[in-house]
Order: sequence, then structure tokens, then C-alpha cells
Amino acid sequence: MRAVVTNGAGEPSVMTVGEVPAPVAGPGEVLIDVVAAGVNRADVLQRRGFYPPPPGASEIIGLEVSGRIAGLGEGVDGWQVGEECVALLAGGGYAEVVAVPVGQVAPVPAGMDLVSAAGVMEVAATVAPNLHRMGLKAGETFLVHGGSGGIGSFAIQYGKAIGARVFTTASAGKLDHCRELGADEAIDYRGDWVAAAKDATDGRGVDVVLDVMGAKYLGPNVDVLARGGRIVVIGLQGGRKGELDLGVLLRKAGTLTATSLRARPAAEKAEVVRDVVEEVWPMYADGRIKLAPETRFPLADVAAAHTHLDSGDNVGKVLLVVAE
Ligand SMILES: NC(=O)c1ccc[n+]([C@@H]2O[C@H](COP(=O)([O-])OP(=O)(O)OC[C@H]3O[C@@H](n4cnc5c(N)ncnc54)[C@H](OP(=O)(O)O)[C@@H]3O)[C@@H](O)[C@H]2O)c1
Repeated sequence: MRAVVTNGAGEPSVMTVGEVPAPVAGPGEVLIDVVAAGVNRADVLQRRGFYPPPPGASEIIGLEVSGRIAGLGEGVDGWQVGEECVALLAGGGYAEVVAVPVGQVAPVPAGMDLVSAAGVMEVAATVAPNLHRMGLKAGETFLVHGGSGGIGSFAIQYGKAIGARVFTTASAGKLDHCRELGADEAIDYRGDWVAAAKDATDGRGVDVVLDVMGAKYLGPNVDVLARGGRIVVIGLQGGRKGELDLGVLLRKAGTLTATSLRARPAAEKAEVVRDVVEEVWPMYADGRIKLAPETRFPLADVAAAHTHLDSGDNVGKVLLVVAE
């Protein structure tokens, strides 16, 4: 099969399309003929050598796909060859065929184009469980960092669907995109976003922060927190080691936690996928959540897709079209 082959780590040019052996479906797995793959920030980190696949996962980059069932491994039922689906992967998505545990396969959200569907699973399966864990409730204030990206574009809309008041940070040129998605306050992250968020809450601060910056925002995130507030770190774009003033966290009775979807065992991922299909797919179907703007590249232009994401010009999701 054709797949993206990575020759060392570094710039997008380390990725080329080559011939590799096709995977086989092991017990409890299905094979998918991939139609499109989502391109995520984590893929960029893997390409640069900072985010190796978990043990046992494919070395091929790619955490989510859409496609059609091509084969069933031993003990799998509930799917027919040829059926359209989406899947959450531990790796292997930038390829014509992928093998995946059946629990991580889901139907395409009703009415959604199969190529677009490649970009909905990773964001939903990341954001929804984290906000449940943080106990985000209607009427609370929710701050999403990076509202212009794939995760952020989904998180703004999901926060609004829950009934939260949603704040977001993004670069100046992308603030209108965030407002169009429903953000109540869209704040330029190059300015004093802590002060802006405090002003907008009469000094109270925000109840929940979804953070993609890590170390760089550790102090400011605690600073912007309301009493009883909760921070969940899901990205380390601003580094992994920072200094935390526990005195401030303690006075606010705050919570700080961090999670990685990719590192979760298959059984947990299956549970997450089930919950997402039950809760989030109807939100797409009835319009509470809309697809983020998307930029599509053919598989052969994988380097251009990563260059586009690296450039900082992207808004919403980037997709690799493998077959149509
Ligand atoms: N832990 C998990 O389970 C998990 C799962 C999926 C993703 N993630 C992480 O989530 C993050 C977002 O992923 P993605 O695929 O949505 O990436 P993406 O589409 O590239 O989005 C990255 C976002 O970060 C924003 N950003 C850059 N510098 C910023 C700053 N100083 N302050 C606030 N925002 C800033 C960008 O804003 P501008 O474009 O406006 O500059 C952009 O919105 C990544 O760090 C990824 O690794 C984690």
C-alpha cells in the first residue's frame, strides 16, 4: 500500500509517500480503506521527533481517519465490509489502509461528508472527556487557549453547547473566526489576556481552562483562575517544565491536571469513542456544532500540509485526502 514514510526527524521534507506492507487485522481489529486522514499538531511533533508512537503502535504518522471497512479480524462483529466509518488511532493514519481495534471505530456523524469526517474524532475525543472531568457546567466561564486551531474550534462550540460562557485566546488575525464559532470573548494572546479575562468577569476569573501551552502558561493560568477553578493541560506548545506557585493555587482551592488521549489504553479509548458518538455526533447532526473550516491536501502533498500547519496561517482543520 501507499503510505507516508518518514526518513529521520525534522522538516516536512523528511516525509515522502512510499510503498510499505499493508497491515493485517488482528483479533478484535478491523481494516479500514482510508479515504482521508486528519492532520493534527501532534503529527508535527512526531515528525520532529518529539512525540514517538506508544509501544506497539504503527510508526506511520496519523491519529484519525475516515474510510470504509475493508476486513474484519477474528471475533469482530457489528460492522460490514464497505461500511463508512471514522476511527481514532494510536498511529498509522497517513496510509491507504489501517488496522484499528474495533472499539475505536465509529459511524460517520449523520449527514457529514466522508472526507470532512476524518477531522472530527481526535478533537471530540480529546475535548469532551476533559471537560466532563473538569465538571464544566452551564453558566460557568470556560477559557480555551488557541481557539483558532482544530482543538480550539471544536472546544469553543462544545463549551457553548454545554451552556458555558466561552473565552478564548488566539492570534489577532483569527479572533473573528473564534467569535463566529460563538466565543463570547476572543482575546489576542500577544496582549495581557489574564487582565482581559479578569476584566470580563469583574475580577472573578474563569472556572475552567483548557490549555495547549503547558509551561509557558502555568503561572498565568493559575492567575486567571476563579476560586474553585480547574485547569486541564492537554498541550505543551510552550514547554513541559515550568514553575508553579502552589500558594496561589492553594488560596484559590484550584485544580491542575493534565491528560493525553494517545497514551490511554485501547479499552479507555473505546469508552471515549462510545461516549463521543452518543453525545457529540447528535450535536453535529442538529447544528449545535459545525465543522471547522478545513484545508485539504492530497496524500502526495503531505509535506505541504505540514508546512501549512507549521506556518501558523492555518484556521481550523487540515485534512489529507488519501482516496475519494
Ligand atoms: N493531550 C491530548 O490528548 C491532546 C489531543 C489532541 C491535541 N492535543 C494538543 O492540543 C494542541 C492543539 O492541537 P491542534 O491539533 O488543534 O493544533 P493546531 O490546529 O495547530 O492549533 C494550535 C493552536 O495553538 C494556538 N497558539 C499558538 N501560540 C499560542 C499562544 N501563545 N497562546 C494561545 N494559543 C496559542 C494557535 O493559535 P494561532 O493559530 O492563532 O496562532 C492555534 O490555535 C496541541 O498542543 C496538541 O498537541 C492534545
